[in-house]
Amino acid sequence: MKYALIFTFLTPPALAQEVDFADPALIDAGKEVFTDFCMACHGEEALGGNGPDIQGAILSDVTQAIRGTDQMEPVELVDGEPEAVAAYLMALAPKVAEIKMRLLADRQQGSK
Ligand code: HEC
Repeated sequence: MKYALIFTFLTPPALAQEVDFADPALIDAGKEVFTDFCMACHGEEALGGNGPDIQGAILSDVTQAIRGTDQMEPVELVDGEPEAVAAYLMALAPKVAEIKMRLLADRQQGSK
C-alpha cells in the first residue's frame, strides 16, 4: 500500500503547484496517512484527543506542524503525504479550510 501511495504521488510532474485538494483519491490517501501518523494524538476524524482538533487544517498548517512544535514531535512524511493529509483534513471541515485559505491568501498579498 505504501508503495502504491508513493508511486501515485511521484507520477504527476509539478505536483506541488497543482494539487487538487478536492480529489477523492487524494482525500482517501490522506485518511490513511492520518490514521497511521496522526490519529493517535489528534483523535478519530481529527476531532482531538491528546492533541487539538485539527479539522480544516490546510497544507501550510500541516507542513508547519510536522516540522515539530512545542508539544508535537516532528513527523516524517514522504513527498505527497502532507498534501494528502491536508486534503483529508480540509474535506472534514471545508468551511474552516476555505476561510483559512482565504486568510492565507490575504496575508500573502500583504493583507488588505
Ligand atoms: C505525539 C502526538 C502527536 C502526533 C503523532 C501528531 N500531532 Fe499534531 N499536534 C500535537 C499536539 C499536542 C499539538 C498541539 C500543540 C502544539 O501546537 O504545539 C499538535 C498540533 C498540530 C497542529 C496545529 C494545530 C493548531 O491549532 O495550531 C497541526 C496542524 C497538527 N498538529 C497536525 C498533525 C498532523 C498532520 C499529524 C500527522 C502527520 C500530527 N499532527 C501528528 C500532537 C501530535
